[in-house]
Amino acid sequence: MKFTLLLSIFTAASAFHVSPSAQAPSSLSAEKVDRRAAFGMLAGAAAVFPSAAMAAVGESPKVSVFGILGDGTALSEGAAYGSDQSADNYSPYSVYSNVGPDSSYIKNGGKDAGEYVARKKAVIAETKVRLGRIPAYVEKKKWFEVKNELTRYMYETRGACNYLAKSVDQKEAAADFFKAIERITLNTTLKNQEGAFAAQKEAIEKLDKFSAMI
Ligand SMILES: *[C@@H]1O[C@H](CO)[C@@H](O)[C@H](O)[C@H]1NC(C)=O
Repeated sequence: MKFTLLLSIFTAASAFHVSPSAQAPSSLSAEKVDRRAAFGMLAGAAAVFPSAAMAAVGESPKVSVFGILGDGTALSEGAAYGSDQSADNYSPYSVYSNVGPDSSYIKNGGKDAGEYVARKKAVIAETKVRLGRIPAYVEKKKWFEVKNELTRYMYETRGACNYLAKSVDQKEAAADFFKAIERITLNTTLKNQEGAFAAQKEAIEKLDKFSAMI
């Protein structure tokens, strides 16, 4: 085994050794021509790249690591997609900066932005539409549909209510509404039509009350 390895290393090494006499004079001159052509191509390529990125005599190599660390003028720079590298990153894996006073999110009002509030209010409006569908399902004893309606979209509802409820009164109104929703769910589980109708009416009332407060 050792011998074979040694032999193969020797063979590999000797493969690189070419005696000058082995090459014909014509192939030598052909090599010269090719080298000149290759050099000309390189020079042409250098003209295309910005000179700042190219190596110059006496300069140390320009290295950019993942486009984040190192020399900003290196050719491989730019992986950070023009992000401000002087600012903190949102995470080590993110190209985005941390949220700060200069973020467009904050500049546009952040969580209190009109757009954001409007979206949450739209969720409340849609919730009312969906609550309105429940009596028809209860009438036909489509209990599965009731549960579906209460879980599928109203996951959003809870978040929207909690976001919009700022004062103690508003928070209490939101909690009352959630309890009414839970009574619809319980009555649905018990397949109690009368209870589900009543709980749905209550939920609508509580939601209207809450909507009027925000
Ligand atoms: C069913 O709904 C009614 C009306 O809201 C409520 O009084 C009752 O407690 C509910 N039933 C259950 C098991 O929650």
